[in-house]
Amino acid sequence: MGERMMEQLNSLRRRKQHARWEEALAQRGFYGQEASPFCSWALEHMEAARPGVLELGAGQGRDALELAEHGYEVTALDYAAPGLQHLAVEAGRLGLTGRVVTVRHNVLEPLPFEDGSFGAVYAHMLLCMDFGPADVTALLSEVRRVLALDGVFLFSVRTSLDHACGLGRHMRGTMYDVDGFHIRFYSREMVRACAGGGLALEALDHLQEGEQPMDLHVACLRRTSAEWDPSAEQRLQEAFAEAQCDSGRLDEKDTAG
Ligand SMILES: C[S@@+](CC[C@H](N)C(=O)[O-])C[C@H]1O[C@@H](n2cnc3c(N)ncnc32)[C@H](O)[C@@H]1O
Repeated sequence: MGERMMEQLNSLRRRKQHARWEEALAQRGFYGQEASPFCSWALEHMEAARPGVLELGAGQGRDALELAEHGYEVTALDYAAPGLQHLAVEAGRLGLTGRVVTVRHNVLEPLPFEDGSFGAVYAHMLLCMDFGPADVTALLSEVRRVLALDGVFLFSVRTSLDHACGLGRHMRGTMYDVDGFHIRFYSREMVRACAGGGLALEALDHLQEGEQPMDLHVACLRRTSAEWDPSAEQRLQEAFAEAQCDSGRLDEKDTAG
């Protein structure tokens, strides 16, 4: 298939993913009203995150509201408008309007913030969207840029042990279409490959969330003074290529596509 055709297909697939999220997040309480277990974990790693926290892929803002309740100034970013509208209404209801700003933006574009703007960047289940190694590398480089020196990047991704890894339509590598959402399941090596070049791995744990639990790797990377490492994409590419689903559900997968 020609490069132009590939680009057109990628762009179409991404527009469909965007529409799927806009539709899903128009439903109230899509992930429930309570803050996630990851949020409690992250709060322990962000002691005095100043000058504020940037949440990427904030959804309907269950965690942004919790972070604001803990006194943080939160910038909540997502590309789906209905989730951000819900968050703005809830922030008003809870008297947190002064501490929560919403920004509609696609994280595959450069982040619209100055260098060193945030003491922490937070992303719960965002890196496991329909992103390839080049997208993840570009996003990590942007996260590093907008973090203040010594700031932390706290993120979670679904693991290759997750019950849904291997279910649904196989897209490529460890990415599956689960109910219309493209999810990439991460091995530990894929998470480790996100560190380096000015983002040092400080913690890597494991959590579960929900009734039919989503299995999560949770990590904390700290911004150091080291230069951005241009070999990061190569590292991620290798880790992505080697990963496989370990959930034991491979027999049920449809490998078309
Ligand atoms: C799995 S949901 C997690 C939502 C939220 N972090 C939570 O746990 O409640 C992923 C979120 O990322 C957002 N998202 C996916 N791709 C994005 C992109 N390219 N740019 C910005 N947001 C994106 C979706 O709209 C959705 O809100």
